[in-house]
Amino acid sequence: MRIPPIDLRPAIDETAPAWRANLDELFRRGQFILGPQLASFEKRFAAWTGSPYVAGVGNGTSAIEICLRAEGITAPHDEVLTTPLTAAFTAVGIRSAGPNVKFADVDPHTLQLDPESVERHWSRSTRALVAVHLYGQPCAVDSLSKWARRKGALFIQDAAQAHGARFKDRPLTAWSTYVTYSFYPTKNLGALGDGGAIATALPRRAKKLLEMRDGGRRGGMVSFGPGINSRLDELQCCYLLAFLTKIDEWNARRAELAALYDLLLQGCDGVRPVSRTPDSVNHLYVIRAHRRDKLKRYLAANGIGAGIHYPVPLHLQPAFASSGQKRGSLPVAERACKEVLSLPLYPHLSRDHVAEVASTVRRFYGA
Ligand SMILES: Cc1ncc(COP(=O)(O)O)c(C=O)c1O
Repeated sequence: MRIPPIDLRPAIDETAPAWRANLDELFRRGQFILGPQLASFEKRFAAWTGSPYVAGVGNGTSAIEICLRAEGITAPHDEVLTTPLTAAFTAVGIRSAGPNVKFADVDPHTLQLDPESVERHWSRSTRALVAVHLYGQPCAVDSLSKWARRKGALFIQDAAQAHGARFKDRPLTAWSTYVTYSFYPTKNLGALGDGGAIATALPRRAKKLLEMRDGGRRGGMVSFGPGINSRLDELQCCYLLAFLTKIDEWNARRAELAALYDLLLQGCDGVRPVSRTPDSVNHLYVIRAHRRDKLKRYLAANGIGAGIHYPVPLHLQPAFASSGQKRGSLPVAERACKEVLSLPLYPHLSRDHVAEVASTVRRFYGA
């Protein structure tokens, strides 16, 4: 594939001196779990996101699970609301803690969780709301946090796709009890393996998170309460610390390339970019495309890789049938899943490649 959907190698090469130095230090010290690289990464990631406290965890899925467990939202009769248009792992994290998952529909323009639908799907059993900043675009955080407060529900922001995003010029931790992150390799800030983090502004919650991720332990061999084993390891922190020095530059480059796509696809019948605001950190560049699957095959035949985020809404995936929500119940998300297509976007993609992708899309539609 001449233009793959994502290529991590240039970012790895560009930062090699920094992560090699971190690895040398790691091997010299020989502490591979809960060591100084993690402490340093937590501090720097907290400063960069404007979060008072950060706990590194094993991945973005268990980040969500830990938040719910920390609040005791673990009973099968508890319900947690989220969006059906996200990675399955958002709901997997919820289910892993124990509660049932329910879905509300998304807004037809932004494809983010629709606060009115959230209101409609609330029930007496709803204990928490997990809102996702899909594709890097902050969702309607203010209405959703207000709604959660009014209902006495826990509010979690799943920022797995939104490293560096703020809302109304404030850090995400200003808007909810917890903000969860994934460092899956393809994220804006990715490790070279699994990784995740939880950010919070609340010191007591922060302490609890550190305990929960390490089996309920407080730095010793005694477990004081419920916990799981989900720690961000030192090896991944060696890479994350190196990549963190470049993330502002990389996010700026994503924004530049996304704006170029907007410009080059303007007026192309059959294509509508999913709307974004300048707050987006442009994790993905997603269009809604007429005859989407044919377009995807046409791009592949021309050496261009594209992705679908996501092909099946979560309420229609067998794993989440316990939501009881059938086909037709969340029509906006169901339709979006048939139309969305993610065009290649990563910091080291060239402007010429963006132009080539856009012109291939235009050629498909005869534009
Ligand atoms: C929105 C969202 N939430 C949660 C996750 C889960 O993260 P991880 O793969 O680190 O468990 C992902 C990653 O796929 C994601 O995109």
